[in-house]
Amino acid sequence: MRIEQSPEFQIHLQNLKNKDPLFLETIYNVGNGHIGVRDSNPLQGNNLDYIGSPGLFINGFFDYNEVSYGEKYRGYPDNDQVINRLFDPRFIRIKVDNEDSAVDHFRVENIDKNLDMQTGLVHELFSVTTPENRNFNLVVESFASLSKQNVYGVKYSIIPTNFEGDIELIKVHDYVNQATHAQADDVRVNQDVGQMQLDFLPDNGQPSYLVTTFRSQQGVILTFQAGTPTDSNPAIDYFEDANRHYGYRSQYHAKPGSQKEFEFLFSIGNIHPLVNARMYADQYLASLDNFIRNTTFNAELMASAQVWQTFWLHSDVKIDGDPVIQSCIRFNLFELNQSAGRDEFTSIPAKGLTGNGYGGQFFWDTEIFMLPFFVYTEPAIAKKLLMFRYHTLQMAKEQASDFGLAKGAMYPWRTINGFESSSYWLAGMAQFHINADIAFAVEQYYTITNDEDFLKNYGFEIILETARFWMQYGNFAEIDGERHFVINRVTGPDEYSALVNNNYYTNVMAQFNLRLAVKYAKLFNDTDISIQLNVTAEELEDMQEAADLMYLPYDQKRNVKLQFQNFEQLPRMDIDAIDQSMFPLLLHFHPLMLYRAQVNKQADTIMVDYMFPQGNTKEQLKADYDFYEPITTHDSSLSKAIYSIVAARIDRDQQAYDFFSQAVKTDLIDLHHNTKNGIHAGSLGAAWSGIVYGFAGIVNNADHFSLEPHLPDAWNCLKFKLQLHHNELLFTIYQDQVEVELMSGKGLTLSIYDKKVKVSSEAPQKICKY
Ligand code: BGC
Repeated sequence: MRIEQSPEFQIHLQNLKNKDPLFLETIYNVGNGHIGVRDSNPLQGNNLDYIGSPGLFINGFFDYNEVSYGEKYRGYPDNDQVINRLFDPRFIRIKVDNEDSAVDHFRVENIDKNLDMQTGLVHELFSVTTPENRNFNLVVESFASLSKQNVYGVKYSIIPTNFEGDIELIKVHDYVNQATHAQADDVRVNQDVGQMQLDFLPDNGQPSYLVTTFRSQQGVILTFQAGTPTDSNPAIDYFEDANRHYGYRSQYHAKPGSQKEFEFLFSIGNIHPLVNARMYADQYLASLDNFIRNTTFNAELMASAQVWQTFWLHSDVKIDGDPVIQSCIRFNLFELNQSAGRDEFTSIPAKGLTGNGYGGQFFWDTEIFMLPFFVYTEPAIAKKLLMFRYHTLQMAKEQASDFGLAKGAMYPWRTINGFESSSYWLAGMAQFHINADIAFAVEQYYTITNDEDFLKNYGFEIILETARFWMQYGNFAEIDGERHFVINRVTGPDEYSALVNNNYYTNVMAQFNLRLAVKYAKLFNDTDISIQLNVTAEELEDMQEAADLMYLPYDQKRNVKLQFQNFEQLPRMDIDAIDQSMFPLLLHFHPLMLYRAQVNKQADTIMVDYMFPQGNTKEQLKADYDFYEPITTHDSSLSKAIYSIVAARIDRDQQAYDFFSQAVKTDLIDLHHNTKNGIHAGSLGAAWSGIVYGFAGIVNNADHFSLEPHLPDAWNCLKFKLQLHHNELLFTIYQDQVEVELMSGKGLTLSIYDKKVKVSSEAPQKICKY
């Protein structure tokens, strides 16, 4: 089979020899929201001689890591959740005459790697040399299926270049904890917990395993099948040996230049609680026909490629005039789609499924930085991501109660299973804004999709319970003789300050959250849902009052929003005077030395200017930008895209472009020097927002959308599609003109350059700037 390759959709990095193999492992990962596989050296396996951090990650499959505290107080999490690293399905053992890759050190050179984002296929060429100088080319092709999310495929072709001899190919995965090269000393990197057990499930005619975790008590079934694409290849057979090794083997005599191919399809089951994992194992193995029996590598690749085609049809962003940015944005969208959980019980880990950085946990990154892309282009996935929060609402309520609050829900700052996993609570659990972030995301999903069923049956409850949290944690107080609602002792998004009073972002978000609760409680007044949730008129009045009296600290002298109360009293840190080697500051400074100063890790107050553009004059946005930009280090990859959006809104075109282009390249140029630990999924999502909210200037006013584009000078044209209120619209934006075409739906009215435009199926609309 041949797959047409469009050059525009290839990630074909050059000069591989000089690139960090760990970086390449991340960049060329394949995944599908359920699984992710790092692009390892395939002969590495569990051999610690080799450098690498290979392995398979299953979204939501984790174990606990006991946290030890010097002093442990009430409510501190006992355990940290860390995603498990399973064996590397790319691993292959090759024997050449008397030499064995599992024992001898074969030299493996990366000659070529290509990711075709249209099909999701990674195609690689390695040159392998044995200690006795036998050389062969090894071609590896791999993909994670988007059409059957349990399926991963890998195919090997072996071509001897300088010898004739006996080759044996052995594919066995009988270890469970994938060994990796030790990680650097970086607080953002998790060590593998590695407490899994692997049991063989006998009598299936193919190697099948039940992998279970000790502490979290989860089970997953993995199995794989072997084949050859044509009969001209040597046979590959299942074997079991006396040492309980189960796998496949092929032995043949090879001549120089001869090419033999072997393919494997893995089926990686869903996660089950250990109590019923064995029962589920039987059912799962019996139903394998649906997954990998009676099919081939190519058939599954084609089926998956078709789903990728559909993805690009709706989600592609085309930029004419800036080829580097074009590739980067496509890579970002590709990775986002590879990372998003789609089963309602998982979300998007901060590093996607490409590494165990941040423990494979979910943060606000999903709702605030990645969800917009899905809401506007793949609303069905957006809904599933929000359903994860609905399914974990009960735990968030338990957490609020354990914390000592009488009512409401407290979503965890970082989690896999719905419970809090941040042991450094100052920059973790105290980021209560996560509650309002989730409510904001629910509202965003609802206003863009009009999915009333979701709002009524799931979204409203999230909004109400998170709003209840603010009423419990905040309080009414007098400031300068006036009554206000205050929220003290919180950490805002900027992790270079902690436990502050009245963080501007948190308070604005809480205010929004409270207003939403009141709005929808009134809408659902006297319906089953509001009765079931015990909403009372008195409660709503309190919420309304708290929202109306919310304290928002403001510096009248400088006319800027204050990041938190008394922020103006802190000394300003001169970040330009700090040596480059000291960044990110979090790795080099005691946290208190950062907390005591005006210095930002990431956009904080500027998040408000991004998320609530309405009601701000350009002067206000400029004043805020000029105040915060010089003290922001952007040590978090979530920062630059946001600054780019606000810069675009205040006509700082060059800064908008510079920030955006760094954000969009975050992983491909390894901006933060840690892509080796996994992609920066939030930053990838934020870059999409940079295009849509920044350069295209989209504003969602709840029931009306407006566009105020200003393209970077280098861009001749920008094209993308959005789904708004059941319509799909194609936007083609030129420097001074916008075209909008209705691709499906009944049409709607938008504002473009302040002109009201009715988009219908009749003809595309053209709107000129002047
Ligand atoms: C950022 C957080 C973010 C987390 C995970 C941290 O460095 O400060 O805002 O949620 O990374 O991406």
